[in-house]
Amino acid sequence: MIFDFPNGDRMPVFGLGTWNSKPGEVGAAVLEALSAGYRHIDCASIYGNEAEVGEALETAFGSGDLARGDVWVTSKLWSDSHEPQHVIPALERTLADLRLEYLDLYLIHWPVAFRKGIVRPKRSEDFFSPRDLPIETTWKVMEDAVSRGLCRHIGLSNFSPPLIEHLMATSDLGPEVLQVELHPYLQQTALVDFCQKNGIFVTAYSPLGSPARPESMRGRSEPILLEDPTVREIADRVGASPAQVLLSWALRRGTAVIPKSTHAQRIRENLASLELRLETNDIDRLTALERGFRYVGGSFWERAGSPYTAKEIFEGPSGS
Ligand SMILES: NC(=O)c1ccc[n+]([C@@H]2O[C@H](COP(=O)([O-])OP(=O)(O)OC[C@H]3O[C@@H](n4cnc5c(N)ncnc54)[C@H](OP(=O)(O)O)[C@@H]3O)[C@@H](O)[C@H]2O)c1
Repeated sequence: MIFDFPNGDRMPVFGLGTWNSKPGEVGAAVLEALSAGYRHIDCASIYGNEAEVGEALETAFGSGDLARGDVWVTSKLWSDSHEPQHVIPALERTLADLRLEYLDLYLIHWPVAFRKGIVRPKRSEDFFSPRDLPIETTWKVMEDAVSRGLCRHIGLSNFSPPLIEHLMATSDLGPEVLQVELHPYLQQTALVDFCQKNGIFVTAYSPLGSPARPESMRGRSEPILLEDPTVREIADRVGASPAQVLLSWALRRGTAVIPKSTHAQRIRENLASLELRLETNDIDRLTALERGFRYVGGSFWERAGSPYTAKEIFEGPSGS
């Protein structure tokens, strides 16, 4: 399955995630993935590893086996660069780190904005409220980035339907892709349907339940998706791994997936889920696991002084 864009570009639905991929490991993971057949790499400036990803891409393109046009590269605008004058420089920094002339896709990482130079916003003065810096102001410069050839497509991450609709209504180029957390414990069916009806492709992040998240983002007793008894039972019965079962379920929904791994064997194992065809009954049993559980809960945006709440980020501004 491929996402076909109106301009003829094609996004492979299976990508490699790079969040929490450590320095000294992420470059090798990218090279392993490309050699295994991945043609889509998911990056972000806030992951702090784009320079090493860029070295790996340069090596891959320099080898002559792959050309730039063979690989879909996504990156994301961090929340300290939403002011119009910071958007293009942030994108140019990412391009320099990734050693690329253009990105295939640039996403606004979160519908949250704070001042340039602030690493961890702690006080109300650190933030821009949506009223101070409306998202359409940032989006306008994202559109400029496309006209300037710095990226071919633009989209959103962690946005809710009301905000997406608002941008669709107020912009020339609507968002073409939405990247959000999706797996059997958090299916967000209304959001996925909304996007699919509006011609917005959906990418599922944390499709394995994000077991590598930093300690600070973990709850005390959270469910471990890869150890879910239903997932394990199906995996054992069909001769696949739990990860492959989860990825196959996500692909069957028509979403792209970007599982992260820095282990060669898992990188290959995950890609092989493209070959797995689950029975409808097993798909239904996985779908029945819904429990509205977020691994990336957004509570880190609720620090003292923040004008944002996780509820409003994920569901839309109150009153919308
Ligand atoms: N837009 C956003 O706000 C946002 C948020 C979160 C994630 N993302 C993107 O989505 C990507 C994926 O999400 P994620 O990193 O949160 O989590 P994930 O892909 O659900 O899970 C990654 C974890 O699963 C392990 N793993 C990978 N393959 C495995 C396998 N076959 N069997 C067992 N364990 C396996 C990895 O360990 P090893 O590396 O040790 O193999 C790693 O600990 C990210 O890397 C990032 O690119 C975007």
